[in-house]
Amino acid sequence: MAHHHLLASSLLTAITSIHCFTSPSHLHHLNAHINHFNKQLHSTPFDLDLYDDGRDLDSSSNPFQPSDSDQDLSSPLAQDPSTKLILGINKYSHDTTLCAANALTGEVLFALSKERITRKKHDGGNTAELVELCLDQLELEVDSIVKVVMNNHHHRILPFVEANPDHMEWEEGLGINDGKEDGYSDEYNLLTFVQDKMEMSHHLAHAYSAAAQCPFDTGMIVVMDGMGETFRTMKIAQEKKDSTYVSDLTLCEEHGCDVQFVPADIHERAKSSYFDWREAESVYTFKKDGKQLVVKPVFKRFTGENTPPTLYNHGFENMDSLGAVYSRASSHIFGDWNACGKVMGLAPWQGHVWNTDDSEQITTKMPSDPILQGNVYDEVDIDKSSMMGLPFISRTDPDMFDDEGDMIRSKRYDFDDDDFEEIDLGQDENSDEDDKITKQLPLNVALDAIGLASRIQTDLESVGMDFVKHFKEKTGEKNLCLAGGVALNSVLNGRLSRELGFENTFIPPYPGDDGIAVGCCAYGLYGKCESTSPPLWDSALSPYLGPMPTDADIMEAIEAAEPWLDVTTIRNETDRIDMIVNEIASSGVVALYTGRSELGPRALGHRSILADPRKKGLVRFINEFVKKRESFRPFAPSALAEEASNWFDLGEYATACNNNVSPYMSITAQVKKALQKQIPAVTHVDGSSRLQTVTAEAEPFYHRLISAFYKLTGVPMVLNTSFNTLKSEPIVETPKNAIRSFLSSMGSIEMLVMGDYVIKRKQADVRRLLGEKGKTGMLSQPLFPVRSGAANYKSTFSADKDSMTDPKTLVQIPDRPMHNEKDGGWFELIDDFEGQLLGMCDGTSTVNDMISYFSAISEEEGSEEGKKAKQFTEEDQLLVENILRRLIRLYDHTMISW
Ligand SMILES: *[C@@H]1O[C@H](CO)[C@@H](O)[C@H](O)[C@H]1NC(C)=O
Ligand SMILES: *[C@@H]1O[C@H](CO)[C@@H](O)[C@H](O)[C@H]1NC(C)=O
Repeated sequence: MAHHHLLASSLLTAITSIHCFTSPSHLHHLNAHINHFNKQLHSTPFDLDLYDDGRDLDSSSNPFQPSDSDQDLSSPLAQDPSTKLILGINKYSHDTTLCAANALTGEVLFALSKERITRKKHDGGNTAELVELCLDQLELEVDSIVKVVMNNHHHRILPFVEANPDHMEWEEGLGINDGKEDGYSDEYNLLTFVQDKMEMSHHLAHAYSAAAQCPFDTGMIVVMDGMGETFRTMKIAQEKKDSTYVSDLTLCEEHGCDVQFVPADIHERAKSSYFDWREAESVYTFKKDGKQLVVKPVFKRFTGENTPPTLYNHGFENMDSLGAVYSRASSHIFGDWNACGKVMGLAPWQGHVWNTDDSEQITTKMPSDPILQGNVYDEVDIDKSSMMGLPFISRTDPDMFDDEGDMIRSKRYDFDDDDFEEIDLGQDENSDEDDKITKQLPLNVALDAIGLASRIQTDLESVGMDFVKHFKEKTGEKNLCLAGGVALNSVLNGRLSRELGFENTFIPPYPGDDGIAVGCCAYGLYGKCESTSPPLWDSALSPYLGPMPTDADIMEAIEAAEPWLDVTTIRNETDRIDMIVNEIASSGVVALYTGRSELGPRALGHRSILADPRKKGLVRFINEFVKKRESFRPFAPSALAEEASNWFDLGEYATACNNNVSPYMSITAQVKKALQKQIPAVTHVDGSSRLQTVTAEAEPFYHRLISAFYKLTGVPMVLNTSFNTLKSEPIVETPKNAIRSFLSSMGSIEMLVMGDYVIKRKQADVRRLLGEKGKTGMLSQPLFPVRSGAANYKSTFSADKDSMTDPKTLVQIPDRPMHNEKDGGWFELIDDFEGQLLGMCDGTSTVNDMISYFSAISEEEGSEEGKKAKQFTEEDQLLVENILRRLIRLYDHTMISW
């Protein structure tokens, strides 16, 4: 023991003076990995000074004390047991979503997309889990559901998918939901006992999602998306007088409307064509007169299914709707039909000039022939030749490959502009040169992609503007609602709302297919215009409709990760806001988790990552380290609504809506020229910004927060991005997701504020690990590192072109707070030595035991006596450093704690 203690206390001095070793041969394999390993340690540079923070080891360092007050176990969203529910559901397709309203009052009680629980972006398939969670949160039994309205734009649900279990399997096998899942035959999915079940057509559901909640009584609704319902589905139901299905065709029978169809002879064509036809763009008008909402179709363009509908996702990228053509550009550039937002983010780089180090200039080239031109209401010309052939991602660009010939996927679209100043990430000085953040020039592949993105964006804007303008004149309507996936294009939305002279524009925060559930629910409430219908929604729905985390949920999540967290409870909101604002103003990145989650793809403040809009370097930092996405992508500001017109060119439209132009981040505007340099982190390369306006009425807490930042800095906005740090995961839902995401950012998010709790990452406590003198002079014993739970190991070998093998050891610890289900949660160890150490962390060995064990192995000769007497050699120091580095790394990844 005495030896151990001597060893431990000499370590602190020994290690701080160690910089570089020549490695003894038997430890060579360990040392070889250290460079590799340094790169993964941005957040915890190995510098013992960092750990010596003058804390008194004898006192408890963590002020977080879980309250032991009686916990009320009932859900904060619990309803009276007699409550009856109407459900709106988007199911079996992508973006499976549920929306539940009180059948009597019309109040929307709960809405959630399946992706938030399964953690798979745009997850589709059945609704068993969602229905169960909804009833659980509302504390209602399944028989409280009295009516269900739903849509699946692939196939009819009641007579087809759910009528035959084979069809369900087939639907599942379409691959929309990337794999198999349970729950199809579950009662929570089928809801067989509900008598009143019906379906509605796709664009009509989009239309209802906007019309039913927009804050004005008349107007027109423009729906544009990738693909809607098929014509034959609507026609057959109409002819059969199928009362379980409502579409534009049945509405017109009821209300007598005069619809323009494109093609004009769609009824004839659909009888004889080999494939079916699908909704591409639709226009409706609506009217609310106190009690009733009447929606009438005005215009419908259909696009042929040009390829067999059994292709993946219905072959929709071969269709000719505006949304599908745009989506094709997304597939072509990013290999993902659903990355249209990234295409929109690329487009403004068109025309940008980069100076290379050799003082050459590089720039982009936009394809000169339009992809889209003409009139939606007459004939659109579509030329997809610039999107034919192999998509960019599979092309050979020499810059995209590393020395080994492997594609560097992350490099493809990693570039930023010329103005780039180097930023200090606070790394330790012995990190490699290549870790320094310097300007990145676009690869050829990116230049091509920018040209294409800009082409499709330009075309969408000109064709879309012309289309909406035409129907504004034709209908004479003064107010505009937008829905369908194309309404996620905030650049087009901004132009439509500012340039066409509409008095008001309303775009729900979920114009995509998550909004289908809201539209179905609205139809369930108001579609039949009966005297028993509940009162109409009198204002826009709150977007915060997800499950309500309780304080107990938050505490449970914190306790599960307690060894890795420093938690402070700050109940005083003013103090908490000051702390957040000061952190942001000093370049820290803060994650905010409050209350119920937002429905829709954007973080509207309840699941947000906030940063300083004045710091340009943060764009790269957040893209690269926090969100792990490409560096070209811009960030959006949340601005005080009353200050917005001082900073952005909003036109007259701003006055009409009292500056609250964009409560759901649906609109892009230009930052005033003179102010662009002041807020570079939220100003895109073309001077635009996708802003969100925040009012004190809608979001009092955030309004106070931004006001405090304004007071401190003179800038009335913060950079606001959604809280998800794991690649391709949706926004965090539960407190547990939030902590996992926070820890996985490896320190690049400085602070997580969740309810009253201000949470920081706790540095590995090396002094406690080694055992050391506390302030009171007492010696503390070295602590026993312990694994976070049962560990599984596996090894993989990959042969490269020289037929060498590259052995990897992987570990999986499902109980660790950073465990990620994706890929089974396997984590790559640096080497077998790290695995051996992890194996020894069973709570029975101190670090000194480990050191003794491994130094005994390394000494082939010498008696026990001889070893004890032996001097502390360089070899020992190296071994100790290797052990400590690995233990700290294991701690940082929440594999072990002590
Ligand atoms: C919160 O703290 C501020 C000072 O930081 C104080 O003025 C205020 O009264 C406190 N609020 C409450 C509710 O205690
Ligand atoms: C993020 O956007 C939402 C939208 O209303 C806003 O409420 C919130 O203020 C923003 N987050 C912050 C704290 O700025």
